[in-house]
Formats: sequence, structure tokens, C-alpha cells
Amino acid sequence: MRKIAAIMIFASFVITASPLQAEYAAPDAETLKKGELLYKHSCLKCHGEKGSGTESGPPLVHKIYHPNHHSDMSFRWAVQRGARSHHWTFGNMPKIDGVSDDEIEVLIKYIRNLQKEAGIF
Ligand code: HEC
Repeated sequence: MRKIAAIMIFASFVITASPLQAEYAAPDAETLKKGELLYKHSCLKCHGEKGSGTESGPPLVHKIYHPNHHSDMSFRWAVQRGARSHHWTFGNMPKIDGVSDDEIEVLIKYIRNLQKEAGIF
């Protein structure tokens, strides 16, 4: 019994010590590949190679777009409704037609993974 209690105390310490890391699970290779293709097709011309930005749109791999500042919901809205210019001077983002709800989720996973790899969170 005492051993079990000790393990439980240790486990709860590990979980509370690193909340974000514990929540993030890297997507599988197939999802990332699909996300990359969708991104190249619909987002790259403004947001640049691997989310690095262009003269038509901001970098998405940027601390402004940290998951705590711009939740996944803000990504869904940006694609479905467009985004009014407020952080930068590139102008408004138009809504992006032809991207399904499922594809948006894959895109979010791809972009969050780029952010994770760049140490944004
Ligand atoms: C025609 C250019 C263009 C395309 C294509 C484009 N964006 Fe954007 N996007 C912008 C601009 C410009 C902004 C910055 C608005 C601002 O000043 O905050 C932006 C902002 C965003 C934001 C932040 C929204 C917010 O709430 O601040 C997200 C998320 C985003 N884009 C995701 C995407 C995704 C995903 C795609 C592809 C499906 C995409 N964008 C395609 C131009 C574009």
C-alpha cells in the first residue's frame, strides 16, 4: 500500500510539473504530410514556407500565435470567416474557400507542430 501511495504522489507531481508538454502529442507522419500539402495549397502564398511569413501575410510560427494567445478556434475562424487586420499591416485575411472542417483540423495540427519544433511552446 505504501508503495502505491508513493507512486501516486510521484505521478501527480510529474503531471502537474509540466502541464503543456503532457498535453501535446505530436501528430503521426501521415497527418503531417497531409497538413503540409493542404498548407502548400491554401496558405503558403501568404504565410510562407513552414509558416515563416511573406510580404502578403505574417509568420504563423511566431509567439503571437502561441496556443494560449490564438487558440485552435481562432485558426478555424480565420479560415472560415477570414481575419480582420489587427496585429500587422498586411491587410485583412480573406476567408479561404474549399477547405473542409476536417482539413482545417489537419492544418492546425501541421502548424502547431511547426510551432512546437520552433520552440514557440
Ligand atoms: C491572401 C493571403 C492569405 C492566405 C491565403 C491565408 N492567410 Fe492567414 N492571414 C493573412 C493575413 C494578412 C493575416 C493577418 C491579419 C492581421 O493583421 O492580424 C492572417 C492571419 C491569420 C491567422 C491569425 C488570425 C487571428 O485571429 O489573428 C491565422 C490563424 C491564419 N491566418 C491562418 C491561415 C491558414 C490556416 C491559411 C490557409 C488555409 C491562411 N491563413 C491563408 C493572409 C492570408
